[in-house]
Amino acid sequence: MNVFTPKGGELYAEAVPLAQIAQQFSTPTYVYSQTALQEAYREFDEGFAGIDHLICYAVKANSNLAVLNTFAKMGAGFDIVSGGELARVIAAGGDPGKVVFSGIGKAAAEMRQALEAGILCFNIESESELERLNKVAGEMGKVAPISLRVNPDVDAKTHPYISTGLKNNKFGVAYDSAFALYQRAASMPNVSIHGVDCHIGSQLTEIDPFLAALERVLALVDRLAAAGISIRHLDLGGGVGICYRDETPPEIAVYAAKLKERLKGRSFKLLLEPGRALVGNAGVLLTRVEYLKHGEAKNFAIVDAAMNDLMRPALYDAWHDILAVEPRIGTNEIFEIVGPVCESGDFLGHDRELCLEEGDLLAVMSAGAYGMSMSSNYNTRTRAAEVMVNGNDVKLVRKRETVEGLLAGEIVYK
Ligand code: LLP
Repeated sequence: MNVFTPKGGELYAEAVPLAQIAQQFSTPTYVYSQTALQEAYREFDEGFAGIDHLICYAVKANSNLAVLNTFAKMGAGFDIVSGGELARVIAAGGDPGKVVFSGIGKAAAEMRQALEAGILCFNIESESELERLNKVAGEMGKVAPISLRVNPDVDAKTHPYISTGLKNNKFGVAYDSAFALYQRAASMPNVSIHGVDCHIGSQLTEIDPFLAALERVLALVDRLAAAGISIRHLDLGGGVGICYRDETPPEIAVYAAKLKERLKGRSFKLLLEPGRALVGNAGVLLTRVEYLKHGEAKNFAIVDAAMNDLMRPALYDAWHDILAVEPRIGTNEIFEIVGPVCESGDFLGHDRELCLEEGDLLAVMSAGAYGMSMSSNYNTRTRAAEVMVNGNDVKLVRKRETVEGLLAGEIVYK
């Protein structure tokens, strides 16, 4: 269900006009729909009903505490990639016992923090990391639960920057060396093998690469079982895409049904790490037109959000729909929607047909995933406020940053 819909021509977040939110909290502001978050989670969870499963939301997609809390209350687990994300999960009321820890560069301190918290599993991405974890756990008198993140060498057919399951990616353990590394892990005193893990990429719009990865991983699971190494869970990572423009990602129910069919008769638990599919279409970035500039070759709408707020267009040439919050009746023009940052690459959208005046509000759609979580303070721009809507209830869930706050950690020696 799309919760950011026009009513009487004006764009709403659930039952609240976006214009009202802009008035109350100023711009740029990220607006999330709690109902959309809950619906997306439920769709995933219900899709996998009938088999033992745990949805571990990928925190990196949107790590706002209110978002995490929404999922925690629904029983979600979490996929983290840093000690910072673990602290967020705990602060948001998440259960550390449902946390999987991915990432290729886990520091010893992060391992200690995660062992102390009692996480569900470390997704190990290299031999050196396995050795380090064995040592760290030993020093703490603990046994660390592990999976190896196996690189199934499957083409996810997505943007090269967000494809992770190919041989030439920096992620995971090569498929051909995984078995030997599992045998090594089995001989280590301070780690315990809990699962097999893989993640092949993000914004996948086809199911076949997931099924191809599953085949490869199941073959490894069987080989391990024959060697006396049995697993408790299989983690298939995240990656299901969303519709930004005209993509046709798989329906979650269909994706789930296909995976379930292939997993029939297996006794282990299935873990999934969706990020974008749970939050992407549950958020918009609300921004105001500062200036209209009619250049020689192009018309520019200079808005108060920029690449530091939403990096995806600049970084991946990603498309986000941009809609007028209170559309005008008049002649449309073609605009470059750009931010104030001093880079030619600072754009939110190219060639958008809109009827605009200075002061108008725009909504950059599908901005719930990898929006705020990838934002920066480039050009000493304070990061946007974040607001959560539920029905007609509107709550500020992150204050707009202040310049004083930005400068606070810096030191001048006189
Ligand atoms: N698990 C692991 C190990 C991951 O690396 C990722 C995403 C996920 C799960 C969640 O993937 P999702 O379900 O969200 O596709 N910044 C990029 C996306 C980078 C994805 C990184 N890893 C973007 O804005 O498109």
